[in-house]
Amino acid sequence: MASPTSPSGADRGAVLVTGGAGYIGSHACKALAEAGRRVVAYDNLSAGHRGAVRWGDLVVADLHDVAEIRRTIRDYRVSAVMHFAALASVGDSVKDPSPYYRENLEGTLGLLRVMVEEGLRPIIFSSTAAVFGEPTETPITEAHDTRPINPYGETKLAIEKALGHFERAYGLRSIALRYFNAAGADPAGDIGEDHRPEAHLIPLAIAAAQGGAPLQVYGDDYPTPDGTCLRDYIHVTDLARAHVLALSHLEGGGASGRYNLGNGQPYSVKEVIDAVERVTGRRVPWLPGARRQGDPTVLCASSDRIQRDLGWRPAYAGLDDIVRSAWRWHEAHPRGYANRAED
Ligand SMILES: NC(=O)c1ccc[n+]([C@@H]2O[C@H](COP(=O)([O-])OP(=O)(O)OC[C@H]3O[C@@H](n4cnc5c(N)ncnc54)[C@H](O)[C@@H]3O)[C@@H](O)[C@H]2O)c1
Repeated sequence: MASPTSPSGADRGAVLVTGGAGYIGSHACKALAEAGRRVVAYDNLSAGHRGAVRWGDLVVADLHDVAEIRRTIRDYRVSAVMHFAALASVGDSVKDPSPYYRENLEGTLGLLRVMVEEGLRPIIFSSTAAVFGEPTETPITEAHDTRPINPYGETKLAIEKALGHFERAYGLRSIALRYFNAAGADPAGDIGEDHRPEAHLIPLAIAAAQGGAPLQVYGDDYPTPDGTCLRDYIHVTDLARAHVLALSHLEGGGASGRYNLGNGQPYSVKEVIDAVERVTGRRVPWLPGARRQGDPTVLCASSDRIQRDLGWRPAYAGLDDIVRSAWRWHEAHPRGYANRAED
């Protein structure tokens, strides 16, 4: 285990970022450090990268190791938690739900239990649009029914509910942020997206433009203007900033809550392909494929509530801005973090 860094912003204590070596968690670490916070990433590196941890120490350990979580909270004088560590593939969760219940549910409950025992620290929880299931209206507000249609969404919703019970019983305050499609990379180019295998549209389209496998388009017969699904893409740096705002809100005595996070502007798969072609100046070869089960036609968030309550505004709302930042990262790191000596 790394030794604690010298305290700065010590009044408020350090922020424990589980999954801090992953895609969104690493961007949150950067945003926290920029806000003057001490950060400690806690990650078993099952999907994360050592090279993504640049704004604080890294404790390489598992969420199930509650003794190590407790030690980390004490050693670093942790005063708040951002919990990103999870398994996050909808398709895998359907094929093999057991690890999803173990990691996302059991793992998180262990973390919450230690937090309660160590003194009720606030937590920002990574939730997902998958808690809603098939949307019955769009854009999706926080008032929309939650009826997940896969184990991934079920485990995230179960934790959202547990957080409500933990607040009533133990006073544990929390904000659950339901992200739609996280995309893009740190605008300074320090960190970016490197999922293995990659399942997200923008990095796959970029890989196709770079000469990789042609992009599979899952269904081009949806009732949309060009026949492909519409999705709401939110820049990962905007997401990260929302976490910092949510934490300040709770630390300032604000109420717990659940917020949807997207741009409120859906783009079709073909519009994303066009944007990648515009930004890269290269063609994106693609192949039409069958629809995937459970893929709704449109997924689009209303972020009105977080804009109103927390003053969040997206800084990189345009699709080309999002794609440009991703392209910069992938062009400079064609093998992701494997290019970096320390990873
Ligand atoms: N990427 C998206 O578009 C998206 C959308 C909605 C919600 N989310 C949620 O956001 C969070 C982060 O997603 P991401 O895309 O950054 O994923 P990621 O896989 O890049 O990051 C997850 C990190 O958690 C770590 N981890 C997993 N299990 C662990 C365990 N048992 N102990 C310790 N560390 C563990 C992994 O090594 C990885 O670094 C997840 O909770 C996910 O469900 C992501």
